[in-house]
Amino acid sequence: MVTQVVGLQWGDEGKGKIVDLIARKYDIVVRSQGGHNAGHTVVVGGKKYSLHLIPSGVLNPDAVNIIANGVVVYPPQLISEMEKFGDTLKGKLFISNRAHMILDHHIAIDKAREKLRGKRAIGTTGRGIGPAYADKIARVGVRMGELKNVPKLLEKLEHYYQMNAGYFKFLGISLPNLRELEDKLYHWKQKLEEMIIDTSHYLWENLDRNILLEGAQATLLDIDHGTYPYVTSSNTIASGALTGCGIPPRYLDSVIGVAKAYTTRVGNGPFPTEEVGVWGDKLREQGHEFGTTTGRPRRCGWLDLKAVEYGIHLNGCDQLAIMKLDVLDGFPQVKVGIGYRKNGEELNYFPFDLEGVEPIYQTFPGWEGSSGVTRWEELPRNAQKYLEFIEDQLEVKISYISTGPQREATIIR
Ligand code: GDP
Ligand code: IMO
Ligand code: MG
Repeated sequence: MVTQVVGLQWGDEGKGKIVDLIARKYDIVVRSQGGHNAGHTVVVGGKKYSLHLIPSGVLNPDAVNIIANGVVVYPPQLISEMEKFGDTLKGKLFISNRAHMILDHHIAIDKAREKLRGKRAIGTTGRGIGPAYADKIARVGVRMGELKNVPKLLEKLEHYYQMNAGYFKFLGISLPNLRELEDKLYHWKQKLEEMIIDTSHYLWENLDRNILLEGAQATLLDIDHGTYPYVTSSNTIASGALTGCGIPPRYLDSVIGVAKAYTTRVGNGPFPTEEVGVWGDKLREQGHEFGTTTGRPRRCGWLDLKAVEYGIHLNGCDQLAIMKLDVLDGFPQVKVGIGYRKNGEELNYFPFDLEGVEPIYQTFPGWEGSSGVTRWEELPRNAQKYLEFIEDQLEVKISYISTGPQREATIIR
């Protein structure tokens, strides 16, 4: 059985929590795209773990974790993340030889280009994601499997730096010292070589087992289908996950779409249901909406059902997880975007161009006391009505309702 967990908004929906929660039913957990721009938080036994590259199945002691071909890997980040788990990862973490590598210059280019964009900046995480994927598509990237032959890799990189010297100079980025780079490559090889394998092959051999694909970023940040250019540089939707790990599409059995009970976004770009006033501040405060990766305050607003519906269509979700319901506790009323208005015209779909789009809201009476609830019957009636409305509008079953960051604070239906 292959299941995909995918974000339906602009990221940080709580994918990490859902993956950790269900991981014990799975033998293998896979990250297929993105890099350390992702920040997935898992809270187990009162301890908080922030994961950026290692799949969130890592706290299930029996699952094998895979960083597949579609991921871009920054070796120093991976090594420091691995150190937190020590020997427990032995034989439990594999990295695709085809995964592309993020090098320091990608990070420098990312930051320099953001500066040049000025008010058009995307608000990237500054992790070198875009430049690393750009090199992959331009066929000048380097892959994790190339660490096996450091002299050859170094020669290739030397040529790359010669080819890009003019561009680096223009951006004010210094060329790396090749001696130092060589040392780094040997260090990474020594730390990671054992784990670098052909992960597609590994997955094909295990297709009769339970495999969980952990999405990073989310649908509205997808390079093709998101709010371009304010997106990330990978295909974040379910079909992208399959390309990103080599599992043929016909093996995908189920797609769990993860959405917050409201909406957040980090970085720039359109966000129709954003609340910039007191309600937005209250959501940020109650939801602790500060980025796991960069610590930036997240922009907050109401749930946008047409945006979520767009994600359900793109991903083929057969189940939903609605997260952070408890954050809405204590609001006198809760609003939900059910459509849009543009130039006096009503739109009942998520449009190509969000400029000048105003949401149409339906308002619900608020509630208290959903925090930590683990049974549907114990939810306040108004919260139940809110969820029933969402389920009814989206026509997809809500299988999971999250009422707190802890693994246990979940209603499983
Ligand atoms: P991801 O990137 O989709 O994995 O999400 P993040 O981990 O970046 O952000 C979600 C944040 O909300 C984390 O700090 C989680 O611990 C927290 N969280 C997850 N589910 C809930 C919930 O139901 N209620 C509350 N209050 N916090 C939650
Ligand atoms: P998880 O997996 C939220 C956003 C950045 C920026 C845009 C492009 O934790 O949900 P990038 O560095 O990818 O080039 O930045 O995408 N972004 C995320 N926002 N959650 C994420 O990951 C994100 N990863 C990237 O803020 O707007
Ligand atoms: Mg996150």
